[in-house]
Amino acid sequence: LKILFVASEVDPFIKTGGLADVSSSLPQAIEELGHDIRVVMPEYKQISDRYINKLEHVLHYKTRVAWRNNYVGINRLDNNGIPTYFVDNKNYFNRDTIYEEEDRHIQFAYFCRAVLEMLPKIDFKPDIIHCNDWQTGPLSMILKDNYKMYDFYEDIKTVYTIHNLKYQGEFGKKILSDVLCLDSAHWKSGVLKHNNFVNYMKMGINMSDTVTTVSKTYAKEITTPYFGEGLDYVIRMNENDVYGIVNGIDYQKNNPANDQNIYANYDLNNLEGKLKNKRQLQKDMGLSIRDEVPVISIVSRLVEQKGLDLVKSIIDDLMQEDIQLIILGTGEEKYEHFFQQIAKYYPDKIATNIKYDVILAQKIYAGSDIFLMPSKYEPCGLSQLISLRYGTIPIVRETGGLKDTISAYDEITNQGNGFSFKDYDTQDMLDTILRAINFYHQPNIWKQIVKNAMNSDFSWKNSAQEYINLYYKTLDIGSEKMN
Ligand code: GLC
Repeated sequence: LKILFVASEVDPFIKTGGLADVSSSLPQAIEELGHDIRVVMPEYKQISDRYINKLEHVLHYKTRVAWRNNYVGINRLDNNGIPTYFVDNKNYFNRDTIYEEEDRHIQFAYFCRAVLEMLPKIDFKPDIIHCNDWQTGPLSMILKDNYKMYDFYEDIKTVYTIHNLKYQGEFGKKILSDVLCLDSAHWKSGVLKHNNFVNYMKMGINMSDTVTTVSKTYAKEITTPYFGEGLDYVIRMNENDVYGIVNGIDYQKNNPANDQNIYANYDLNNLEGKLKNKRQLQKDMGLSIRDEVPVISIVSRLVEQKGLDLVKSIIDDLMQEDIQLIILGTGEEKYEHFFQQIAKYYPDKIATNIKYDVILAQKIYAGSDIFLMPSKYEPCGLSQLISLRYGTIPIVRETGGLKDTISAYDEITNQGNGFSFKDYDTQDMLDTILRAINFYHQPNIWKQIVKNAMNSDFSWKNSAQEYINLYYKTLDIGSEKMN
């Protein structure tokens, strides 16, 4: 198959969240299955010169965003064998933020249009255009409304993946003609209007040929008002088409046996190496170096979604235990402030790192015993998967992808790769942490849990194949080609 993967962030070029990881590791896995997949993203000024200097200019042209006639430069590099295109327009992408600009509706409408127009010019006609999240929501709609009449575009099908329904891209009615250049009849038809705003997410859901999200449980959850962020009715109307495919992680990059960013390499047969990581981490974090104390970590964007209010409310109870807590992340001020303050009250127990640091993150995954991720909702979640890989035991709330990837340890069968609780409830979370700590102090059992964790397989292999099957289904090629 020929696939164009369209995303607003791709690791290692730019990353604000898990979307960037998926946009780099999924295309890689699809390519390994023998398909021609290419990636396209905006050329932000925040991309490091290390990559910018390697770009090869392919061509340039102009594209219209309603009355605006805009330059489009297409630059390209090979990202581990995946041709990756960068859409260059300084006016739109030389900005201080990635998603927070006043005119972001124009930035991303421009991006969608530039991407569609790039295809015949680079002589690449994909079978499938795979879009992701609100920034690429308008693409299918523009394709159907403005381009389908041209031969080149006629057979192209679209897949749209929801990574987080909360961020939707809502803008005033005026942009319909002034930016998107879409027929005003669409306003009345309801395909893109929500709360009297033009909604990019809704557009993506309604106008793409196939809609997916990043876990089976989240696919079900978003049909309900609690998780639906106001769009649950849109999902329900599409219910048959919203497929849940769980994300994988890059098993090459996230491998404790050869990760260059951690203090010592290790694997299941050499867990002594994990202990070395723990000691060095404790030292670097200014905590006392003690093997017998469980190190609990949180590596996260510090936002409400991640369940940090639960952590806040039990912090004093938790500090009664002999544990150490390490926090790494940036986000909302109230959480940053809280974790900084609390570390001052419990300096020998809590180490707070308010920063974005991918190298320190790997050291924390490797050096901790327990990974805490009590999300309020979680479309998939990647950090619990990285933790598993590093033998760090996740404690999660049973929601979305957390529910689909973490199975609670069962003392009778010895099965399970972590600990979990059901309700978004402080006492339930605290009890679960205490239960985990209790097992931690029984080394034989803990070793078994670590083994179960490290033997879990969340590489992309299976999920990439599921996407391929879905692409064929979208193209209606029939089951004989699907394996
Ligand atoms: C978003 C979601 C997260 C998911 C990621 C990649 O960041 O919040 O749960 O893992 O997208 O799909």
